[in-house]
Formats: sequence, C-alpha cells, structure tokens
Amino acid sequence: MIEPSTDTLNTEFGYFDDQQKEYVISTPFTPTPWINYLGNDGFYGLISNTAGGYSFYQDPKFRRLTRYRYNSVPVDTSGRYFYLKCDDEIWSASGRPVANQPEKYQCRHGMGYSRFLVNHQGINSELTCFVPLGEKAEVHRLTLKNAGARHRKISLFSYIEWCLWNAEDDGTNFQRNLSTGEVEVEDGVIYHKTEYRERRDHYAFYSVNQPISGFDTDRDSFLGPYRGVEKPLCVEQGQSTNSHAHGWSPIASHHVEVELAPGEEQTLVFVLGYCEVEKSQKWQSPGVINKTPAQELIKRYADNHSVQQALDNLATHWDKLLSKFQINSPDRKFNRSLNIWNQYQNMVTFNLSRSASFYESGIGRGMGFRDSNQDTIGFAHMVPDKVKERILDLSATQKSDGSAYHQYQPLTKKGNANIGGNFNDDPMWMVLSTVNYIKETGDFSILTEKVGFDGDESGEPDHFEHLKRAFEHVVKNLGPHGLPLIGRADWNDCLNLNCFSEDPNESYQTTQRGKSDIAESLMIAGQFVLYGQDFVQLCLQLGKAELAHYAQKQVDAMRDAVLKHGWDGEWFLRAYNAKGEKIGSHENKEGQIFIESQGFCVMAGIGMQDGKARRALDSVAKRLATPHGIMLNQPAFNEYDKYLGEISSYPPGYKENAGIFCHNNPWIMVAEAMLGRGDKALEYFASISPAYLQDVKSLHKTEPYVYSQMIAGSDAATPGQAKNSWLTGTAAWCYYAASQFILGIKPDYAGLTIVPCIPADWPSFAVSRRFRDAHYSIEVRNPDGLGSGKVQLEIDGKNVQGNLIDYSQFNGEHHVIATIVS
Ligand code: GLC
Ligand code: GLC
Repeated sequence: MIEPSTDTLNTEFGYFDDQQKEYVISTPFTPTPWINYLGNDGFYGLISNTAGGYSFYQDPKFRRLTRYRYNSVPVDTSGRYFYLKCDDEIWSASGRPVANQPEKYQCRHGMGYSRFLVNHQGINSELTCFVPLGEKAEVHRLTLKNAGARHRKISLFSYIEWCLWNAEDDGTNFQRNLSTGEVEVEDGVIYHKTEYRERRDHYAFYSVNQPISGFDTDRDSFLGPYRGVEKPLCVEQGQSTNSHAHGWSPIASHHVEVELAPGEEQTLVFVLGYCEVEKSQKWQSPGVINKTPAQELIKRYADNHSVQQALDNLATHWDKLLSKFQINSPDRKFNRSLNIWNQYQNMVTFNLSRSASFYESGIGRGMGFRDSNQDTIGFAHMVPDKVKERILDLSATQKSDGSAYHQYQPLTKKGNANIGGNFNDDPMWMVLSTVNYIKETGDFSILTEKVGFDGDESGEPDHFEHLKRAFEHVVKNLGPHGLPLIGRADWNDCLNLNCFSEDPNESYQTTQRGKSDIAESLMIAGQFVLYGQDFVQLCLQLGKAELAHYAQKQVDAMRDAVLKHGWDGEWFLRAYNAKGEKIGSHENKEGQIFIESQGFCVMAGIGMQDGKARRALDSVAKRLATPHGIMLNQPAFNEYDKYLGEISSYPPGYKENAGIFCHNNPWIMVAEAMLGRGDKALEYFASISPAYLQDVKSLHKTEPYVYSQMIAGSDAATPGQAKNSWLTGTAAWCYYAASQFILGIKPDYAGLTIVPCIPADWPSFAVSRRFRDAHYSIEVRNPDGLGSGKVQLEIDGKNVQGNLIDYSQFNGEHHVIATIVS
C-alpha cells in the first residue's frame, strides 16, 4: 500500500508522475471534476477524482449500468462510493461525497485505473478502480490499514445507484420506471434485474468478497428521507436496513464490519459486473435469475492476489501499447505529451468518439463519420486491427452515391437516420483514415474487403469502391466556382449556409432551406486536393493508372479553382454562401479570416510555390493566434445571422464563433512544418498541449493531462477558459502533427520516411518506433541548427540514399541515424 506523496513539483491541484504514468491530484476540489476512463474493450467506466461517474457496456445510451445526474448540484454526486465510519467520524474513501474532509487525500489517474489514497484518524485507505482486460466488470479494491496504536472497528458501506439500462428513458420516463426496478440478493451479492423478466437477456451485479453484516437495495431506505449521498442515514446510524427494492430507485450497498489491530490491514474486493445469458438459460428457477455467469466472474477476483495479477496485466498491456512510439527530445513536456497522455487520450477518443464524457451525456450522439475516421490517425500504430474494423464499419454506413450518414449507433452499426447526411466533407475523411492505415501496416487487403452500402449486408462492392465513390461525391457536387458544395456543413458543423433558421426549435444540423447548389466550401476544396492526391497515389500503388490519371485531373482542376476563386489577397477565403457572396474575406465586416481553409489549403500544398501558403500562415499568426492557441475566426460574429447559422448563435469568443477550437490548431502545425518553420509549429503545439499548461490550470479549469475541445478566445469574457475535455479530435490530430510532421517520423507505403521539422535549438532527438514487424531506434541529429531540410540517412552504420527506411530491406531490429543537412 502506498502513501499519499508530496512532491516538489506539486502545483495548486496536482502534478505529473511520469515514472508511474499517472497524474496525481491533490484535492477533491478541482475546478471541474477531473476524470479518467476505465476499460477499453466494451465495458467502460468514467471516473472522476472523487470516484464520481458511471459505467456502461458498449453503448452508453442503451446499456447504462449505473446512474449519473448530469448538471446536478453539487456537481458530480453519483459514483462508486465507500463510506467509512469509525468512532462516530464519517468520511469517504475517495474524498467525497461526505463533506467531512479526510486529513490526507490523493487521487492518481493512471493508464486504465484510478487510485484514491486517503488517511484519516489513524486509518489509511487505498481504493483502486479498474476494468480487468477482457472482462465485463469494474473491480474496486479497497485496502484499509490501522496506522495507529489502538484496536479499531470500522463500519464500511459501499454504494452505487443502478440505472435502468436505457439512460434516456431512465432520466425521463418516471411514470414507467418508478415501477419497473427489480433486484435479488444472494450470498451478499446484489443483482440488478430490471426488465430481465421481459426482453432483456442481461443483468448486473455488485459483490464483495467478505461476509456482510447488512445490505440495502432501495435508495430511499439507505439515504433516508430527503437526504443526499453526502449524508446517508444508514451510515450515520452505522446499520443497513436490508431493504429490498420494488421499483423506485434500486441501489447496491453492502455493509461490512472491519476490525483492525494496530498495524493490521485488510483488503476487500468489490466487483461491479455485467452478464449476458442465453435466452433459454435465463432462469435458474421461476423468477430467480441464472447466476452462474456472475458467480464465475466473481470467482476470478476472489482475492487480492488475482486482482493484483489483473492490475499487473493491465500495466503490461499499456507499457506494450505505448512502447510502439517513444520519443526522447530536449523538451520534457513534449515527451510527456506524446509518450503518455496523448496516446492514452487517442485510445479513448477512438473507442468512444464523442459519445460519453462529463460533457457528452452518452445519450445524444453515436459515432461520428468524420470524427471516427479522424480519430484513427492517432491510433493506427497502437491497435491496427481495431482500426481496420472501424474503417470497415464506417464504410458500411456510406451510401451508394458516395455520401455518408453523419453518425451511426455502435450497438447496431446502422447509420443514424435522424441526423442523416449531406455533410459534404464526410466522405473524404475515409480516404485519410484508409491511406494512413495502409501506410502504417502495409495491409492493402482492407481495400478488397466486401462492404455493402448503407448497411446492406449482401453488398458486393469492395472497400476501394467506397473510396472511389467518396472521391466522386466531391467531383459530382461542385458549385458555381467549381468549388465543392458545402451541403449542410463541412467540418465546421456550425457554419450552416443552407439553413436560414429563424425558429429556435429547429436543429441547425438538420434544417435545410437553401437550394444547396450554390454555397461552396474552401475547406472541402483544400481537403479534396490533399486527400485527392492521396487517392491518386493509392491508385498508382494498385496499378490503376487510368483512374490515377483521371483523379489527378480533378485534383488539378480543384487546385486551379482555389487559386482563381479562393484567394482573398492575404489568405484563403472560407466559403461562398447561398447567395454566392464571399465568407472569410477582408470585404466582410465580421468573420474576415477563418482557420480551416488556411490549414487545409496549405496542407494540400496550394500556394507553396508562389508564396500564398506563407502569406496565409502569416495572416493566421497575425490575426488568429493568441497565447492560448489559435482562434477559429476573426473578427467574431456579434449578432445572429441566419445566413451563417449556428456559428453566429454563440456569444463571441466561444465554441465555433472565434473560440480556440483546438481540433483545427494542429492543421496549422502541420502546415507550418510543411513550410519548414519548426519553431512556429512547436510554439503552436505548446500553446494548447496539456503538458505545458500546468500554470494556467485554474484559468483553464479542465484536466491538465488531456486536450479539451475548446478554449475561449480573446473576444470572450473569460479568455483562456477551456471546456469539453477528453472527446475531441484534437488528440489524434496533435499526435499526428507532432509525430509525423514536427518529428517527421512518417509512415509511407514502402517504409518509414524521416522528414523532421524541429525547433532550431534542438541538437537532436531519439525515437523508438515499432513499425509493422520492425523496430527502429532512430536518432535525428541537428548539428547545424537547421531544424529542417535534407536528411542524410545511416542505417546500422551504413549510408543510405534518400530519407526512406525501406521496410522490405529493413524489417527486424535496426539503428538509424538521420542528420539534418543543408
Ligand atoms: C465537434 C464535432 C465535429 C465537428 C466540430 C466542429 O467536435 O464532433 O464533427 O467537426 O465540432 O464543428
Ligand atoms: C453542435 C456543436 C458542434 C458539434 C455539433 C455536433 O453544433 O456546437 O461543436 O459539432 O453540435 O452535432
């Protein structure tokens, strides 16, 4: 058992412990709940720094195990709680919800687990919560130690509140659900079986591996009338009521008496599990559920030894995943970002898209088509097989005209008809994800996988055909200037040029009034040139010369259209609206410059030769950059304009209206790196990357170890304040920008290329990179302070022409030295 530590690096709220790969939080009262994610394969738990949050299996809407109240006061009061009572003192093993504060508190969020260390009145506790690999369960291990000199008797109460599975119904349909709740209690295990009598073939349970001296399954009996979780009556009285829930609000609470001699410690193991049972096997006897699967699960974690084993396996698993890419640069914060937390967040965004966080309620959005495609670029090196599966799932929701459903539900894998499609940037993101996957793995077989359109399982076409139709969808949907039609919206969901809404009850995302054959997007134009070129390269790889030739012509035509109709003098325009007027031009009063088209046109290489690219990025630096990151547009929109839509609905400085919408900042980092300006690229990276932001945390408010979607821009009343942490495309994109463009360790079809663009004053850096079946230890040297330029390659002591580590020659273990030369 470890003790809460104090560290010299301790800042107001906490610090990084890189050795343990943990973020250590030193107070329950962080500005917002600072959370972690447990589980990475079906069973998930969201857990705050005081053990608040909830658990679900696969789908946070349809299979919610425990109840959580968003928007509650005090915030974050629902979770896995352990109440300790000793000598009439009551406190929590995770710092809350009991108001009485322990003498010492610490929370350590690590890779797939969270630990809570609390010392109070001579009793030390350590609570560790995690989801064992491959298990549909959360394990809560609680160790209690008597650190004092006298004999102690502790009354321990566990507490979770069941959600009646469908989280939306659970929070709204009270006339039904106050009558449906059902539980069973057997051998100290509390089973939650609401709706099992009818169509469900799953139940949940909460167990403890010690004899109990009481239990409660009815919330009001445990808490007492008109009380909250901060002061349950049963805990106050030191006794459970053995209540049995019939409807109302079922919970699971165990009461365990623990006696400890001086110096003695005891470990209890609680399991919160989910079981599916075959329809024919549902009942053990009439009305009594089949408990065999639960009993087997409980047995696997019967003692501390097996729990420790599972924790060790989890640690090994993460070490292995993270070891695929490790960087050692002169900048410790950069290393910490990339080696630990950024990759960790990439796994979470890959798994959950934008569905369940403390800002996404888990009942709204499914998996986003563009979001999920982009999330793969931060994750393909970690678990490529899952990426392949995800891309093919996305592909299956594409329609035969090449367009895509904007979202799909993870449980059914069907396109979400409520939101529909016509977000015209969606299709081309699948070219990015697929090409990135093939370059990482060398696995071209993804292209010949059979995938139907729009959920058609008998579908014949292969995945390559889907990419071709994505490409064609842009070609067939061009507007008056030969630029791509925007449809409902492009990447910026809030620039709704065909919506014209004056009714507050309408959705900006689904309402359309414009004819949709006029408004055009320069962001999609840049995206098409960029990923269109990738499509051409892919065709060439496959020997499809004719298609490559055709595609190249379309790409060239788009580049010409951008240069002819998309340049505003000092930067790229953003769009043409439904009346054919310019958006993002110096001629406009507000919204004169936008970040998206600068990022995408420069990343596509447009204007590289004639200085336009450089001028566009200089304009970004001059007009959009702030110390907290790069704003989305300037000047902000001050009034609502129905021809612009949701973007103008936000108060100036927030969200897509001139906020720092972090997701698009790495586009500028990539663009700067392509221009060879490594110092600038790193400056932008540092301005939004969590590892650099310790000092501004009280301002920032959100977790200092992960990216947030948005930081308020300079027009806001609260500039620098972040919101919506965790589920943002920023994670994958920042990792992609930093690893592939700043460090320049870039997968290609034939192998790994080295194209660094680093700050001039970095003398060198080293990367350990697992690539397909090879492992490369790469040292990049920058002896002349150039930062970027030509590279001289030496592999295993021998000079090699060019900057490619050719995989066909160098699989296995190799040492690479790349020297930047003029
Ligand atoms: C949100 C959406 C994403 C969109 C972005 C900008 O993050 O999930 O799809 O691109 O906002 O509007
Ligand atoms: C809202 C949000 C935007 C998000 C969209 C997704 O418009 O402002 O960020 O992409 O919802 O539906």
